Amino acid sequence: MAQADIGIQRQLDNGVLRLSFNRPERKNAITQGMYTALADALLEADAAPDVRVVVLHGSAEAFTAGNDIADFAAAPAAEGEHPSARFMRAVVQLGKPLIAAVNGPAVGIGATVLLHCDLVYAGSNATLLFPFVKLGLCPEFGSSLLLARRIGPQQAARLLLLAEPCTATQALALGLVTEVLAPAESLDRALAAAAKLAASSPDAVMSTRWLMRQSSVDETMARIGLENEHFGRLRQTPQAQAAFAAFLNKARA
Ligand code: COA
Repeated sequence: MAQADIGIQRQLDNGVLRLSFNRPERKNAITQGMYTALADALLEADAAPDVRVVVLHGSAEAFTAGNDIADFAAAPAAEGEHPSARFMRAVVQLGKPLIAAVNGPAVGIGATVLLHCDLVYAGSNATLLFPFVKLGLCPEFGSSLLLARRIGPQQAARLLLLAEPCTATQALALGLVTEVLAPAESLDRALAAAAKLAASSPDAVMSTRWLMRQSSVDETMARIGLENEHFGRLRQTPQAQAAFAAFLNKARA
């Protein structure tokens, strides 16, 4: 069964829900509508017994360019829970395995979401970018906590403070991805892993996953709340506004 939302494609086959970014003309940059579609799909998947595993992917050329900067620069201060915050919560609280297949750029939230995936299959053309400081912002999605914990503070500072790109090979060496494959093979490999998990005992899979993650969920949610406060303040600053305008003006030129 396939269902298309704005920029997000959903497809459920044999217990594996595929959620794909489908906005190639903007390198799969994520709008508020796309965050809402992703959050809805994840919350529904969590409650649906026929969904065993979720696979998140883009195209062979791009995973996602992160927040849509035009949408982001134009969006008024959100009332209630922002769609991106709802998406983050749905990911962190998901009780089922989340697998990513990543090709090309994975920028901003496209890179930080990978820290929450159980398995990440990267095409050799994948590049992870955490451009927050360059944009006058701060890290989000718990990455200020999880990245340093995963790869150590020195390497985390290189990626988060200096915003240096991380190639697929470097990401493998740092333990940020499971495997590096030819770009045409990353999705197939992710789907094969998903099929294996979908064929396993759901109770065993979910219990194992819960045991591996439960101690950090509350801490991660608390850090996301803190990051969102700083991010919300920083996005209003002249430095951030100027960085958004520079990107948008270059895009128009
Ligand atoms: N928001 C809005 N539009 C975006 C976008 C984003 N995050 N990322 C790319 N686009 C648009 C570009 O403006 C361009 O539009 P145009 O065809 O009207 O000029 C189109 O998508 C294609 O992008 P382009 O930059 O030409 O592709 P590229 O392959 O040279 O580079 C990226 C790809 C992802 C490396 C580059 O687009 C980029 O750095 N994007 C910004 C990423 C970012 O800072 N995200 C925010 C994180 S908080």
